[in-house]
Formats: sequence, structure tokens, C-alpha cells
Amino acid sequence: MLIGYLRNCPGHEGPAAQRRALAEAGCEQIVEEWPGVEQCDEQPALHDLLARLQAGDVVVVPRLDSLGRSLPKVVQHVQSLTEAGIGLRSLAEAFDAPPRSQPAEPIAVVGQHNSQKAGSRRPGAGGRPPRLSPAQQLDVVAKVLSGRHTAAAMAKHYLVSPATISRLLAARLADAAAPAPGGPAGKDAVASDRIVGVLPPSALDERLAIVGTSGSGKTYAAKGLIERVMATGGRVCVVDPLGVWWGLARGVDSAAPPFPVAVFGGAHADVPLDPGMGAALGRLVGAQPMACVVDVSDFGSAAARRAFMTAFTGALYQANTGPLHLVLDEADLWAPQRTQPDGLELLGRIEEIVRRGRVRGFVPWLITQRPAVLHKDVLSQAGILVSMKLTSSQDRAAVGRWIEGQADRTEGRRILGALPQLRRGEGWVWAPGEGVLARVAFPRILTLDSSQTPRQEARRGAPGLFAPVDAPALGRALAGLAAEGSEEPSHR
Ligand SMILES: Nc1ncnc2c1ncn2[C@@H]1O[C@H](COP(=O)(O)OP(=O)(O)O)[C@@H](O)[C@H]1O
Ligand SMILES: [Mg+2]
Repeated sequence: MLIGYLRNCPGHEGPAAQRRALAEAGCEQIVEEWPGVEQCDEQPALHDLLARLQAGDVVVVPRLDSLGRSLPKVVQHVQSLTEAGIGLRSLAEAFDAPPRSQPAEPIAVVGQHNSQKAGSRRPGAGGRPPRLSPAQQLDVVAKVLSGRHTAAAMAKHYLVSPATISRLLAARLADAAAPAPGGPAGKDAVASDRIVGVLPPSALDERLAIVGTSGSGKTYAAKGLIERVMATGGRVCVVDPLGVWWGLARGVDSAAPPFPVAVFGGAHADVPLDPGMGAALGRLVGAQPMACVVDVSDFGSAAARRAFMTAFTGALYQANTGPLHLVLDEADLWAPQRTQPDGLELLGRIEEIVRRGRVRGFVPWLITQRPAVLHKDVLSQAGILVSMKLTSSQDRAAVGRWIEGQADRTEGRRILGALPQLRRGEGWVWAPGEGVLARVAFPRILTLDSSQTPRQEARRGAPGLFAPVDAPALGRALAGLAAEGSEEPSHR
């Protein structure tokens, strides 16, 4: 069914003309928004309409900005429609996204459309390269996409044409919406310029949680965001219990590493670690201007990792002064909702860093595949939530509790329902403080994808034959390892 939607706002054609155009386009029903002068942002009629539409319906609007006053609003509504399998047609721009099109497509088109529209207003402006520095570009994208400034105001501020601003926004939105390409990242990509569409730079200094099932792309998404932090000179420490972060210190395809990152511990260590070094490393990381990965994946037992982390976080909390992004991958290992007696001290330290660490410069980012298992007092502190694919109802309920504490419940219900369908590398980014709520496909990272590499390395041994079995040698090796194990302290 074709349903028309019009918004009677200043700057739009009169309602009678809009109604006529929609009827001529074949709309069987027309829904009208009549906001007061002060309430141009509120769209109760559209919300009612969205709630009763069914997959296969097509919404027709006189122009794309009938859907909302700001670009993020328009993008958000386009996303809601396409996700629900509803088509969208806009008469002024000859925009036509049939029902059940890929969510990414219409968003890219909205971006393109905006740049064309601005270009046609200023004919001479089309095609010229942007005359904004990367830092200015980030500033523009952040301010416009967060809804704090209009594109026109930013054009005036930086003395560039509105077309330049629109082109920039279009490129960012297309980048955010496009599925990650299969090939390697472009060699000339500038890290500080690879904004994940919607999340402004200021948001990167917020406490952030990334949740999603195993393999949904959490670590990958976090790496992309951390690359942005490093690109602007931020200090970073990633605690990695799975041995998947060392690639941050490598370039792709044997290219030079884009960022200097020290790797402590694990199979690719610059500096090996043993479980007794927690306090020393905490003091070192707290005092150094550097980016590092602390890989505790080969410490043998969960108890040994917890003991290390207790000493490490305690010393780091004391020693740290400047801003430090502390990324805790698989954070539920350190701050579980149900804590073992030997984990209570560690839980206390993590809570301290997350709740009160701001004054000491800590920007904690927590990553977990089980938000329901992460301690709720820790999760609730996150100001920004990135949710990748999430299927279990308990985990979605945990996200729901975060939403109740931080964000809009109506939107929340809609998003919770959509979480199981997300594809790998896709997530909802919700930053209530920044006015950001968007579905994003996280772009390629600039560093080596080391969550994937072990599998590739294993395959390189093909055609699949190991050395012939030497039973006596294996027996000796096993006896040697057993003897070593008996010397280990009891907590390992
Ligand atoms: N946005 C993405 N673009 C391209 N590949 C991705 C993306 N997200 C995840 N992947 C691939 O999937 C693998 C697993 O993702 P990862 O982030 O490690 O999952 P997890 O959610 O378990 O942390 C990555 O190593 C990478 O190869
Ligand atoms: Mg991971």
C-alpha cells in the first residue's frame, strides 16, 4: 500500500499542494503532521504511522526532509523504514527505495542526494575538492551529525560552500552505511579521517560499552574506534585475555604499522610477561605516554589472570595521571555479576576505575559477549552503548536495563527487537548524551586483523600433514610438562 506523509512546516510547500502531489503519486492514504511553530522536531503522526506500517508498504514523501528537520533524524527514519521492510519514495528527489531493500542503500542515497541538492543550489561549487583540513572535517561531521549545528552554520563558520559541507557529510554517511569491503584497506587512508559516520570525536572520550555475541565484530569495531583515538595521539591500554589484539601493532599486508603500539605478553610480545608482573606493568603503563596491548592469554588459568589483573589495575589506578583509554575486552572476566571470592578485590578495582576513574584520566571501554554476566553496576556506567548482534533474551534484557537508565525507552524497544538480525560488523550506536542513535556498519580497520590470523596461519601448514607420530618423544615432552606443572604455585 502507498501511504503519503507530509509535514506542514515553515519552508515547505503549503499542505494543499503537498496533498495534491501525494495523491497524484497514487497514495491511498495521507498522514499529515501539523506541528506548532515551536515543535517542528516532534513528529507524533509519523511515529503512529511507523507503528502500524507493514512490510511491503511504501511511504511516499514530498521531499526527504519531510521525514525530519535534521539529517540524523532523516537517516534514522530511513533506517527504521528499511529495516522493517518498508519502501520509501520521495517525489522532489526522485528517490525510490523499494520495500525490503538493504538498509545500507537508502542511507548512502540520502547522503548522495544531499550533496547533489546542495550542489545544485550553488552551481559553481560541484566537483571541487573539499577545502577543509581533516581536523575541520571531523569538527563539521561531529557538530552537524549530533544535531548541534546546521550544515549551513558550519559552512558559514569555515567560509566554505554548503555543497562542500554536504559532500563531506555524504561521504561520511556512505562510509558508515556501506558494508565493509572485502579487499584490504586503502594504503592512503588517513586514520584520523575515518570517522565511523555517526560518532563524533568528543564521544570517543566517553565511557563506552560494546556488547554482542561471539564473532559479531565487537573487538573489530573497538579496534577501529581505538585507531581513531591513537590517530589523535591518545594514550591507550588494551587488556586482552584472548590474544587477539596484537595486530594493532602491525600494518596490513606487511605494510609499516600505522601506530606505535607496544605488545606486552602473549605469542607476539615485544616484551614477555609473567603473571607476577602485574603491579610493575601497572606502574609502567600509568607513567608512559604510549599505546599498548597487555596480552594475558597465555597465563594458564583464570585465577592467575585475575591475580595479575588485581595487581595491575591497583597499580595503574595509583600511577596514572593523564588521559588513558583503558579497553577491557571480555570485561565480564574481570567484573562478573557473580563474583568468585578471589575476584572481589578485582571487581572493586574495576568499579573504582569505571565509576571514579575520570578524575585520574581513565576512559574505560568495556567489551563483552554476555552483557547479562557483566556486573550491572559497571555496565550501567557506560554513557555510550554499541550493540552488535545479540540473540539471547537475558543479554538483551541487560541492554534493556541500560536503556532504562540512560536512554529513550520507546526507541529502545524497537532496537532490542532488531538486535538478533544484525550482520557481523553491524551495530547500533547509542550515545544519548550526543544525540546519536544509528545503525552502523563498522568500516575496515587500518591495522592487521589479528582475530582472524591464527586460523590463516594454521592453514598455511597445508596440505595438512604433521610430522609422523614419534610416541617416545611425545611421552618425554608430556612428562617434562607434568613436572613443570607440579612446581607451579597453587593459585595457577
Ligand atoms: N566490520 C567488519 N568488517 C570486516 N570484517 C569484520 C568486521 N567485524 C568483524 N569482522 C571479521 O570478523 C572477525 C571476528 O570479529 P571480532 O570482532 O573478533 O568478533 P567478536 O565480537 O567475537 O569480538 C574479525 O576478525 C574480522 O575478520
Ligand atoms: Mg572479541
